[in-house]
Amino acid sequence: MGIVLKTPEEIVAMRVAGHLAGEVLRMIREHVRVGVTTGELDEICHAYITEEQQAVPAPLNYRGFPKSICTSVNQVVCHGIPGNKKLKNGDILNIDITVIKDGWHGDTSKMFLVGEPTVRARQLCEIAHDSMVKGIEMVKPGLRLGDIGHAIQRYAESKGCSVVRDYCGHGIGRVFHEDPQVLHYGRPGVGELLVPGMVFTIEPMINHGKKETRLLADGWTVHTKDRSLSAQYEHTLAVTEDGYDVLTCLPGDEI
Ligand code: MF3
Ligand code: CO
Ligand code: CO
Repeated sequence: MGIVLKTPEEIVAMRVAGHLAGEVLRMIREHVRVGVTTGELDEICHAYITEEQQAVPAPLNYRGFPKSICTSVNQVVCHGIPGNKKLKNGDILNIDITVIKDGWHGDTSKMFLVGEPTVRARQLCEIAHDSMVKGIEMVKPGLRLGDIGHAIQRYAESKGCSVVRDYCGHGIGRVFHEDPQVLHYGRPGVGELLVPGMVFTIEPMINHGKKETRLLADGWTVHTKDRSLSAQYEHTLAVTEDGYDVLTCLPGDEI
């Protein structure tokens, strides 16, 4: 299909969608506590997106996905399906929000800590966040996708963690997942050249143990093969004339 470059006007529209997705993550924060189910978090987000934001939750019915958000707890790497499991003290979970507004997608996720996770779990979340930031900071015209992947991989592995290979970031726009694939590992100077108008996600999944994953029988839930903890952060960003513009970062927030 090829990479679809976005005009400055289109990037304005994508920022609207991006901010809505970021606002869902901000809204849901106070609801994430011991005893709440991931299904309840899904219902709250669904109502907020459809009623308050007048937007569309992109995951719902996407390739058969049954819910409006993804909730990935502890050893779940990504695409966890909200359900009736209660969150318990010490859990870490990723909530991944994608909204469609005026036809444009905004995709972002972050980790939430339930009660008091172990030091190890908190460190993993921080490493996943900082891995994403290392990748984002590489983005500018003239560099290549491999430079992003390399920066993420080098950082995560320097902290003794592994980078999931089986899932990646992606181009995004009127289509949820479009070209290019944004690998979170790689070699400098390799891969697609970054040019202004490219819009894609960076969303490294970082495992405390080994990088291998397994898909559960539900066809969606991905967990670490060795059952170690996994963490992920995600932003949608545009390549600008001299760097990057994080479309899912709310004004005043740090990436
Ligand atoms: N939001 C996920 C991503 O970052 C994709 C979820 S697909 C779904 O690409 F169907 F599971 F929702
Ligand atoms: Co994504
Ligand atoms: Co996402």
